[in-house]
Amino acid sequence: MSEYTITYIKNEQPKEKPQSDQLSFGKYFTDHMFIQDYNPEKGWHNPRIVPYQPLVLDPAAIVFHYGQTVFEGLKAYRTKRDKIQLFRPDKNMERLNRSNDRMCIPEIDEEFAIDAIKHLVHIDQEWVPNAPGTSLYIRPFVISTEPYLGVSPSATYQFIVILSPVGAYYEEGINPVKIAVENQFVRAVKGGTGEAKTAGNYASSLKAQEQVADEGYAQVLWLDGVEKKYIEEVGSMNVFFKINGEIVTPALNGSILEGVTRNSVIELLKHWDITVNERKITMDELYDHYQKGELEEAFGSGTAAVISPVGELAWEGKKMHINNGETGEIAKKLYDTLTGIQYGEEKDPFNWIVKV
Ligand code: COI
Repeated sequence: MSEYTITYIKNEQPKEKPQSDQLSFGKYFTDHMFIQDYNPEKGWHNPRIVPYQPLVLDPAAIVFHYGQTVFEGLKAYRTKRDKIQLFRPDKNMERLNRSNDRMCIPEIDEEFAIDAIKHLVHIDQEWVPNAPGTSLYIRPFVISTEPYLGVSPSATYQFIVILSPVGAYYEEGINPVKIAVENQFVRAVKGGTGEAKTAGNYASSLKAQEQVADEGYAQVLWLDGVEKKYIEEVGSMNVFFKINGEIVTPALNGSILEGVTRNSVIELLKHWDITVNERKITMDELYDHYQKGELEEAFGSGTAAVISPVGELAWEGKKMHINNGETGEIAKKLYDTLTGIQYGEEKDPFNWIVKV
């Protein structure tokens, strides 16, 4: 058997599926999962699709102690014609390998990983929901499994893919969310792990998020880790501002995660001949534009969040009410076009869709 043959053990006790129109984010998991092992002798080997089940790991496994782990997030969509399709999985697998490199995890075979994902989604295809705005979220991740308490890269790993039928990421759905600018904590610094999709970035964001949740803020907006001046990202999404008719988004700088949706938004805006400036932008500048009535829209982009308009931005005791708390024209057009392509209702001029 080749190292690329995926073995399959069917789940003989399939679960009841949740109602498609009552889904939130990331609570339900399908009947199967994909696993592949790594050791220095065999490299990545023994790819298999097995019933969804708990993992058995040594309590000394490096992942539990030093967080040597990476993950990705992409989605499978059900079209009106009942076909299932993925959106730019190659971009996610490229990024997974960039994260792997940063975290000293051995590279995975990107094409094989996409095939494995297609295979798994095909097996669990009945779990791809069909209510508007729902999809099957795909969570590939790699964990370090060697039992060892010394701080060094693990010798062994598992690459795992799980699937979760999801609705909107935010409670607000596609309505504008409230975001608070974080002034105390920072998410990442240049040279750190901000560009990698690794668990620690998310664990370290929880405290700030918890502090603002009570006041009704969905997430925090992170500023740069050195001067706390420049806008970076929200953690679950990259951010965009429409200022005087042009779009501004923070330039990738080594501490911002390079979103696949961010890249798709930029390509779409360029395709529509709308100017996109990827540059540094401070909160002072943004507030100045707001006061002059020049801040027309703010929105975030992400796989889970899709396009999420920002209706209120709180910063240093000031509240910026953007576009009267309503979804802006560009955010709406981007949402409609992106989801139109993802659900097969619009032409795909960029060849972003991969059929399952
Ligand atoms: C995604 O959009 O897929 C993300 O990774 C955000 C997430 C942490 C829910």
